[in-house]
Amino acid sequence: MRQLSCNKEIIYLNSDFSKLHQIIPELLEKDVFYIIDESVYLFHSSKFSALKNIILVPSAEKTKSISHVEVIINQLLNLNANRKSFVIGIGGGVICDLVGFVSSIFMRGVDFGFIPTTLLSMTDASIGGKNGVNFNSIKNLIGVINDPKFIFIDYSFLKTLPNKEWLNGFSEIIKHACICSIKFFNFLENNSKIFKSYKACENLAKFDQLVFDSISIKIDYVKSDKNEIGRRKLLNFGHTFGHAIESKYSLTHGESVSLGIVFSNEIANSLKFLSLESNIRVRKLLSDYSLPINISSFDKQSLTNLIYKDKKSSKDKIDFIVLNKIGSALIHSVKIKEIFNE
Ligand SMILES: NC(=O)c1ccc[n+]([C@@H]2O[C@H](COP(=O)([O-])OP(=O)(O)OC[C@H]3O[C@@H](n4cnc5c(N)ncnc54)[C@H](O)[C@@H]3O)[C@@H](O)[C@H]2O)c1
Repeated sequence: MRQLSCNKEIIYLNSDFSKLHQIIPELLEKDVFYIIDESVYLFHSSKFSALKNIILVPSAEKTKSISHVEVIINQLLNLNANRKSFVIGIGGGVICDLVGFVSSIFMRGVDFGFIPTTLLSMTDASIGGKNGVNFNSIKNLIGVINDPKFIFIDYSFLKTLPNKEWLNGFSEIIKHACICSIKFFNFLENNSKIFKSYKACENLAKFDQLVFDSISIKIDYVKSDKNEIGRRKLLNFGHTFGHAIESKYSLTHGESVSLGIVFSNEIANSLKFLSLESNIRVRKLLSDYSLPINISSFDKQSLTNLIYKDKKSSKDKIDFIVLNKIGSALIHSVKIKEIFNE
């Protein structure tokens, strides 16, 4: 088991859920409440049989809503949770975002931790302290930046993850490589056949390296710029279009980010930030992981209109993240209406 730390939180890699209380003994002294993704609970019920205070949440993007915040707070009250309680979210990125937010506002904030169960949440969504919910179809409009106490990663949860969700995890992993590390990008290219399914976990050393490298990149940006005033913005690469696509079309977060990366690289290429060769190479890597890359059917005007609602836009401008080469990104501040025709 390897450990990393971000701001306040400790990240336990390759851990074993059955040893949670041994590894984090402070939980033994707390009233712990477990908020668990319904599917995860069904697939892994034996892991949870000894636990009390379980709240089940249907997992889908629509669960990241104010109405579900209310439902969970009511359930916490019914179970007599108080200011000293400890809340643990067990599920994918939806559960981490939702539980982090509920924990941050319930009784003005209680301690919380995450046990991420999707590849996307293990390698990205559980890290960095951004918690929140969607509002009026706008992604993550309501939220806080507040760190969990721990992130406890047990790869055995991934065994039941549908293959499509497994592959979704690679959009954020590839994003990390694109903005920060050509070495990591090469590693992903060279191992795409191994990493394309859960069987990757059988090659533990390699899989552990994948998770470690992805998390380490995220931590590097988060630690240096917790409140996203400067370089943390680079983590939004692919997300300006990604969030617009996700809120308008029925695509997953991973698929939307993949398409958002393709859109960004097309624009970076036309602005001469990024070479055609690198653009093609990134598309090929996304496609090697069976992520969508065909952007021809998306209506640019309606996506542009949605970008005005993005919380990262101010007045008519947005900090648009572009690659200047694989492994390096920059912030290009642009008028939204000119995003496609500079
Ligand atoms: N806070 C952040 O920094 C951050 C970063 C990236 C993404 N996100 C958010 O994360 C969300 C996407 O996360 P996600 O891709 O994990 O989606 P998700 O949480 O919706 O999980 C995907 C699906 O997998 C199921 N599932 C989860 N774990 C499983 C398991 N072990 N076995 C079987 N099924 C399982 C869920 O029920 C769900 O149907 C988006 O809302 C996105 O905005 C947040």
